[in-house]
Amino acid sequence: MILSLSRPVTLVFSTLILLNFYLFHRVLHQPVVTSTFSVNTTPVQQQQQQQQQQQDQQYQAFLSPSPTPIPEPTTATQPAWTTVPISAATSTSTPTPTPTAFPLKLWQKSGPKGVSPDIQTYIQSWHTLNPSLRHEILSDESALAYVEEIFREDWPEVADLYQKIQVPIIRADLLRLLILYADGGIWSDLDVTCEVPIAEWIPKELVTPDGRVVGKEQVNAVVGLEFDGWQFASWTLMAKPGLNHFERAIGYVMRQMEGIAHSNNVTIPGVTMEMIPDVVDASGPQAITVALLRSLSYSLGETVDRANITNLHEPRLLGDVLVLPQAAYAALQGGYPEDQGPYLVSHHYAGSWKNVQGGEQRR
Ligand SMILES: *[C@@H]1O[C@H](CO)[C@@H](O)[C@H](O)[C@H]1NC(C)=O
Ligand SMILES: *[C@@H]1O[C@H](CO)[C@@H](O)[C@H](O)[C@H]1NC(C)=O
Repeated sequence: MILSLSRPVTLVFSTLILLNFYLFHRVLHQPVVTSTFSVNTTPVQQQQQQQQQQQDQQYQAFLSPSPTPIPEPTTATQPAWTTVPISAATSTSTPTPTPTAFPLKLWQKSGPKGVSPDIQTYIQSWHTLNPSLRHEILSDESALAYVEEIFREDWPEVADLYQKIQVPIIRADLLRLLILYADGGIWSDLDVTCEVPIAEWIPKELVTPDGRVVGKEQVNAVVGLEFDGWQFASWTLMAKPGLNHFERAIGYVMRQMEGIAHSNNVTIPGVTMEMIPDVVDASGPQAITVALLRSLSYSLGETVDRANITNLHEPRLLGDVLVLPQAAYAALQGGYPEDQGPYLVSHHYAGSWKNVQGGEQRR
């Protein structure tokens, strides 16, 4: 039987066997996350999702299970089993988005202390510039109920994880990914003001790296750069619902938390702020950056890494993700650059999570 196989088939078999050896030890202590989550699917999308699920299961094993992620996003590599040409890979593994605009809804989360007068004025900036904006502020209680309602049936591991995490900042980090995946729209931390109407955030026409001009409807997610210019800000994020990029980012945070729990010999509820080497890497901006770059690499069939998001002076479309220059969301950090386009939001750096418990405490 084996002897009658053609050489390419034998080659594929041997590659898979090698790969098995490589993945075996990881799979042993990393439960494979399977998600059957779906949002408003048509039969065609369901078919795509089935293909997607298969690919994603392979992908879950590919993502780093280590609690401290590899510091260089540049290490994102193409898994060996992807043999589909790039064009075909793009058409099947990039989800067909809702063809319409981003949901014009702002999602926010308040801590146990509620919304202060300062925060009220920040919130007002969103409504003043976007009169038709829908808006929801979740509390600890309503966020928990939201996650139960939306994820319990379709992705119970996620509902469990959210329920078990005790560190507020980790919960808040995860919550934004869950909302953007399930409902889409705009996530913004409460200490952020809107400076330009959301409808103007995406340029009408975008030039791809290979010189094609595409319309703004190609964009499924928008991220801005912060800090040293190669990390996605997590305080403001915009996405259409159901993107596999966010599904993968959720899986990434899940494995980070499992890794931290494992290496401290505790279960998820036992993880404390002191056990987390760096929140930024575990669930925050660096985690989102690594997860999204890896997801893009996977979807596009080519390495997308830090080099692709460094030193941007105008928005750059990577696959279906639009990356905005530092000026857009982090103008203050960047020293108010004048050669990177408009300042879309201002971050006022309340940093309520920066204490030993990782969040506001109830009094
Ligand atoms: C982990 O915790 C369990 C239960 O407290 C204990 O029996 C075991 O010895 C611990 N293992 C390590 C490696 O610390
Ligand atoms: C990322 O950068 C590399 C090197 O400049 C380039 O070849 C590639 O096309 C870029 N990828 C995307 C998706 O823009």
